[in-house]
Amino acid sequence: MSNPSTADGSIPFEHEAIEHLDLNEMMQRAKPMRLAERTQFFSTWIRGLHQRGGSLHLRPIGSVTDRVTAVGNHNTDEMRPMLMFGSNSYLGLMSHPYVRQKMKEAIDEYGVGLSGSPLLNGRGVLHVELEERIAALKGKEDALVFQSGYGANVGMLSLLASRHDYILCDKLSHASFRDGMRMSDARTRTFRHNDTSDLEQVLDRLADSTGEAFVGVEGVYSMDGDLAPLDEIAPICRKHGAYLIVDDAHGTGVTGPGGTGTASHFGVTDEVDLIMSTFSKSFGVTGAAIATTRAIADFMRYYARSYVFSSSLPPSSVAAVLAGLDVLEREPGRVELLRHLMAYTARGLRQIGFELPEPESAIIALRTPEGMPIREAIVELNQNGVFLNSIEYPAVPPHEERFRISLMATHTEDDINRFLEIFAEVWDKYAPEEHRLSRSGPLNLPLSGDGQVGSEPEL
Ligand SMILES: Cc1ncc(COP(=O)(O)O)c(C=O)c1O
Repeated sequence: MSNPSTADGSIPFEHEAIEHLDLNEMMQRAKPMRLAERTQFFSTWIRGLHQRGGSLHLRPIGSVTDRVTAVGNHNTDEMRPMLMFGSNSYLGLMSHPYVRQKMKEAIDEYGVGLSGSPLLNGRGVLHVELEERIAALKGKEDALVFQSGYGANVGMLSLLASRHDYILCDKLSHASFRDGMRMSDARTRTFRHNDTSDLEQVLDRLADSTGEAFVGVEGVYSMDGDLAPLDEIAPICRKHGAYLIVDDAHGTGVTGPGGTGTASHFGVTDEVDLIMSTFSKSFGVTGAAIATTRAIADFMRYYARSYVFSSSLPPSSVAAVLAGLDVLEREPGRVELLRHLMAYTARGLRQIGFELPEPESAIIALRTPEGMPIREAIVELNQNGVFLNSIEYPAVPPHEERFRISLMATHTEDDINRFLEIFAEVWDKYAPEEHRLSRSGPLNLPLSGDGQVGSEPEL
């Protein structure tokens, strides 16, 4: 059937083949439309995609997020236990009985929230205690607690750099860092990912400018799980008199002695000026802190807009982070176990034919070869009971698409074995022939405990 067209010859959206579009293309198409039409166009598309099982976004989670998690889909009310390899709860603290208990006790003692900004009525005694504990963990004089990592980055960057200054960031910096740069009056530059000579060149070019420079990197990059080489970056910043900011969202609780983070991993704590840690990853709740000097912390408490003009974290969330810090101190084996599982997973992946370096964080990324339909593979993994995230075009160029495996200290070797079996099967179904793992004979797969491939995990 031919598509009916409008007076100007364009095809009305309800008749257009839009199934194949991605979020980026969708936005481009929608931009010229008026709001009502734009939103209707998008809503029709995304709901169709959900119905066909083509989108895994916004799936409801129906249990504690742990190694096995109940996950729903868009077409039924049914919840399915899935092997979870897509959570940032690296230490598995979401399900920790002590953390849950402390959170409940905080509700009993302080109620459910503070209903106010920290500056006025929202800085409870637990917030003060957490500031001290985070400052100690990060080896800094002071720390202040923000409502989210997003807010921390935006509040810090929009305040600290003035219009004569420069903010430089790694090309792979998180959206919150980019948005903070955009909201600041400072001029901005990027340097190639983890490329210290590019960073040095950019700083050299700014040598004659009157302003100050701020360099922002991530301790652990969320795309590939690689670390910023802070041992090289810190001396470059010192040489150029630049402030160094480390967003350690994915490093806190994972890297460094006892999970203290990436600055201490590289032994450069004193040379990093500001360290941002989120509580939404290893600590399993929400919120964030910036650890820095007392002077900068005091300044931010009065002028960082996302701190001043947004209500505080509820005491229960703060209590959960404090309890998480207790667990870090009392159960050092948890970080060690996570590291063991990182090495175990890498060994298993190598055994089935992937080439990868020793993982430095709880994120292991696997690039897909050209011609492999990653979307279809991820949907099939989902059907086989594996929750895994992927990074797809247009977030990255087509040849840089990848699966992202996120490990938790609560995973078992059996979970990982089972994951490897399902993953290898799905990989071989979708990878072009020359990239199949089984091309040179049967796979050397570790056998899961019950010997079953893809059997339903128990909740
Ligand atoms: C590197 C990085 N920085 C900041 C954030 C924002 O943290 P939050 O989720 O606490 O707002 C994230 C979260 O995705 C992140 O990955």
